[in-house]
Amino acid sequence: MTEELINKKDIYFPSYSGTNDDLMILLNRSTQILCDWFSKADNYGPLPFDENFKCLMPDEDGDSTEDLFSDIQSLLNNSFNPVHPGSLAHLDPPPLIFSILGDLIAAGLNNNLLAYELSPSVTLLEESLCKWFAKKIGFNDSSGGIAASGGTLSNLNALIAARHNAGLGSDPNSVLLVSEDAHTSFTKCIRIMGLEDGNLVKIKSDNKGCMDIQDLRETLDKCYMDNKKIFAVVATLGTTVRGAIDPIKNISEICKERNIWLHIDGSIGGIFAVTSISIDGLNNINQANSITINPQKIIGITKTSSLLLVSNMSTLENTFSTGLPYLSSKENILNRGEIGIQGSRPAEVIKLWLGLRFLGLKGIEDILKSSINRKEFFINNICKKNQFEIYSGPLHIVSFLPKGLTQKESDFWTQTKINELMKNNFMLSRPKFKGRYFLRVVMGNYNTNESHIKELLKLLNSNK
Ligand SMILES: Cc1ncc(COP(=O)(O)O)c(C=O)c1O
Repeated sequence: MTEELINKKDIYFPSYSGTNDDLMILLNRSTQILCDWFSKADNYGPLPFDENFKCLMPDEDGDSTEDLFSDIQSLLNNSFNPVHPGSLAHLDPPPLIFSILGDLIAAGLNNNLLAYELSPSVTLLEESLCKWFAKKIGFNDSSGGIAASGGTLSNLNALIAARHNAGLGSDPNSVLLVSEDAHTSFTKCIRIMGLEDGNLVKIKSDNKGCMDIQDLRETLDKCYMDNKKIFAVVATLGTTVRGAIDPIKNISEICKERNIWLHIDGSIGGIFAVTSISIDGLNNINQANSITINPQKIIGITKTSSLLLVSNMSTLENTFSTGLPYLSSKENILNRGEIGIQGSRPAEVIKLWLGLRFLGLKGIEDILKSSINRKEFFINNICKKNQFEIYSGPLHIVSFLPKGLTQKESDFWTQTKINELMKNNFMLSRPKFKGRYFLRVVMGNYNTNESHIKELLKLLNSNK
């Protein structure tokens, strides 16, 4: 890059005519920095954060390009690195390469999913992709969906629609039923909906981490007796701590009998439903009224990428449409800001679309199967000595703890181990679960191979 360009301040925006050579130089340089960061991940570990990291704020004159690139580099050097094979703590896999391109294109397009006139092609793309997903999971022609920035928002979209559909408005007696292993963000949803934490009723889970059907029936009866108005039951398809799947078939039958909206939180496991991979409990999901699918969590669609699919699109329209007086509409095309909570929204769907098209169904299956295989390899090998309590459902998440530890000992062991693992470039998480801390490994990292897992197991088994 020439000095001249480095100090130039006249390229605020892309040029609308001629060439965009200056922008290309900047993009190429960013690409170089990013790719170097990926390829050097092994030198720095999964979380190379320096406590002295400084964030400079904008000054009067604006910074030089050179300063900005140096700060971009420093930002990367102090970031969690999902491509490192030891990044096994959370549901944050490496970014799929075509999703990275998708994000770049979406940023450049700067279209707005609020309305068709601000994003004609992307509006159609989002609509079609939601329909594609809806059909794949077995919904019929009235189905569809809406993208949102993350699983929490997709679930919230569903719950607001469910409550509206039940005609409950802001009735303080409205309650939502979830299992005790459901994601904590349901408490947030309840608060956002103007209800109290007590309006979130928790159903016991059994020893496999699945909703206890008997307790669900009894709680429903009790809610009726107490004049509580149930606006939805949530079944979790892949719990956060151990990847368990609630008994969807039984729950859907109960919801049908009692005319209650069934929402499936498939933030983790929903994506399996578009494949032919056989997973215990992953059936009958098309009996739900709505389902969240959050492909950012396993297959590496870059964040954020989440979809809410509904069996009947009119439920979203009826709930969220207010009219957008300053925007025009087109017959038979919904302005996407009218069918969900978010108004202005980026074209996030591009990275999902590109990612999926690049992978094809075979590629999606390959990624998902490989995560299950890694999980099984881990469990089979950690169990060899039969020294650990293992909590794991059919998906790719395992929480574990050496057998026989008291609560105090488990706090100490998990904290000590997590630090020791990090020093050896393995990042695991430490969820608190049923009163004790555990270690959790999430096997969604495609870069992690058997030799990495063997190394991890060696560290886990040492000085137990
Ligand atoms: C089962 C489940 N549901 C919902 C969420 C919330 O998703 P997000 O963080 O994308 O909002 C999570 C997050 O991990 C989750 O595990």
